[in-house]
Amino acid sequence: MAYGCAEEPGSGWDLWASVEEMKHRGVAWLPFEEDAIADLAQIFRNLPDIEELFEDSTEGSIGCEAPSAGGPARFILNKSKISENMRWLWAYDEDTLARFDEFVSKANLLSVLGNVDGRADDLMLYSASFIIVKGSKLEDSETLQHLDMGHRRIPRGSSFTCLTSLTELPGSVGGLQFWPWNCHVAEHQSEWYYCDATRNAAPQVHKYRPGKLVAFDGRLRHRTEPFEYDRSLVGADSEALATCDAYEAGGHIRVLASFAFASSDARLARYNHKMLRKQCHDLALIRQSPKLEVDDDSELDTSDDESEPKTVPPLAAALESAAAERATNFFAEDTAQAALVRQ
Ligand SMILES: [Fe+2]
Repeated sequence: MAYGCAEEPGSGWDLWASVEEMKHRGVAWLPFEEDAIADLAQIFRNLPDIEELFEDSTEGSIGCEAPSAGGPARFILNKSKISENMRWLWAYDEDTLARFDEFVSKANLLSVLGNVDGRADDLMLYSASFIIVKGSKLEDSETLQHLDMGHRRIPRGSSFTCLTSLTELPGSVGGLQFWPWNCHVAEHQSEWYYCDATRNAAPQVHKYRPGKLVAFDGRLRHRTEPFEYDRSLVGADSEALATCDAYEAGGHIRVLASFAFASSDARLARYNHKMLRKQCHDLALIRQSPKLEVDDDSELDTSDDESEPKTVPPLAAALESAAAERATNFFAEDTAQAALVRQ
């Protein structure tokens, strides 16, 4: 058995080694049966033309729907503020998030991640999305270092993001670039909470591989690896060339399924909601903890010293309201075919 590490997955997996890597570096890789992702991959293929999601005219688009055997899957679109080549499709409703739950169950993610900080009965899936990068190149300026759950009240070991590609990808396509906790000064190794001072550390890269998922702590600094696709790097390897062929035929699309886990603890749920809502559209689903219902619109749900007052001008509020109504109307319709709603 050789576990390796997130940037160099070994030939065999080991629960203890994986949990230790997560505890000490904030990242780990987990195995899954490749068939487990098939339903989500099919849902993605059933979505409307992905090219449309990247057209400038989609400014203001808010919802899209994929017909599938288990019922329609519905998503809310988020554009990147800094890149025209990235989009997020967030699960819109419980029925859609339940499709992501199925993968979570098949890959046994909750019980594995629960070992990191004794939270096997405490972790829950809050939200999920498809992350799409389109094009053969992603510039350094198009991808920012960040922490998914960078709130000082959210401790290490209590929130995780899991990412996996839906298909095999050429080696030159960007992976996950991350800054492991223990890769520089020793003082950070002993600090379990609030340490995110890893900007100067050497970044590592996890390349997405079928059957191997990367999991990382909500307080791990990371970003999409900038890249430039280069077919010539694979040489004469026929399998790698076939992967390149498929990637090119698909329009240079890199798709990941993304899962956001966090503690259901009533003391943490409000902060989890706050950090997740920063990442997605107001209409995307963030599941409620059974231990505390969070009102995302209420500043009372986070303490005064941490929240920034949210000022919504009347016009913006009206537009938000109109957008919400359009989404509701759209998803209320029994559409036989996938469709895209635009403002
Ligand atoms: Fe992230």
